[in-house]
Amino acid sequence: MTDTIRSDIRTYVLRTGRLSKLQKNAILTLSESFIIPFREELLNYRTIFGNNNPVITEIGFGMGDATAEIADNNRDKNYIGIEVHTPGVGKLLSRIDKLKLSNLKIINYDAVQVIRSMIPLDSLFGVHIFFPDPWPKKKHIKRRLIQKTFINDLLPKIKKGGYIYAATDWENYADQILKVFKEFTELYNPSESYTKGIGWRPDTSFERKGIEKNHTIREIWVEKKGRLTNEIS
Ligand SMILES: C[S@@+](CC[C@H](N)C(=O)[O-])C[C@H]1O[C@@H](n2cnc3c(N)ncnc32)[C@H](O)[C@@H]1O
Repeated sequence: MTDTIRSDIRTYVLRTGRLSKLQKNAILTLSESFIIPFREELLNYRTIFGNNNPVITEIGFGMGDATAEIADNNRDKNYIGIEVHTPGVGKLLSRIDKLKLSNLKIINYDAVQVIRSMIPLDSLFGVHIFFPDPWPKKKHIKRRLIQKTFINDLLPKIKKGGYIYAATDWENYADQILKVFKEFTELYNPSESYTKGIGWRPDTSFERKGIEKNHTIREIWVEKKGRLTNEIS
């Protein structure tokens, strides 16, 4: 296995689904203000947000309800949500507008490429990955987002003392996540195993579907070793 994720393997399937009128309208009228187009060029957070606040990225925000709520509750932090599902992008744009969130932007593109091409080294204060696609079939496991190759790309982008916060309702994926994180000596898991009591994460729509199926929710929180500084690179 090579140490970079293979570019021909996608971690998602583009779900079809009609855009609602609200989502379509949000995309037409709000994209220019809140969507950062994909470019092979590093982001300048100061230019994007107009401040030096810590930056957190969320990968695969789905319909974005939890994303908007977290950004609303933490106006002193900046958020970049990355998602390929266009109806979810439309929905989150409308939430950004309704809540007047100046600390949340969206990149509508494959996160694997966004992390690789757009996120500067040592720049992220945190990374949220809530209920990544589980790819439960054995033949599809290689499509899971959280695997060694991806974390290899992601880790240099996280500041020392920064965190990765993942949650899943698939036991076997939760075990994989713990195992992958353990392979990186730069990562420290304060709970040693699954995390209890983070408390501030709002429920997500995929989480609710998992709970309806009687799945147990497992959360994993790891930190990049070293002391956190507030400098923005
Ligand atoms: C199972 S859903 C969970 C959505 C949301 N976090 C929730 O809990 O409701 C996973 C989401 O990740 C998105 N996704 C998967 N791989 C991605 C990638 N490489 N880049 C961007 N989004 C991705 C999918 O489009 C999907 O919306």
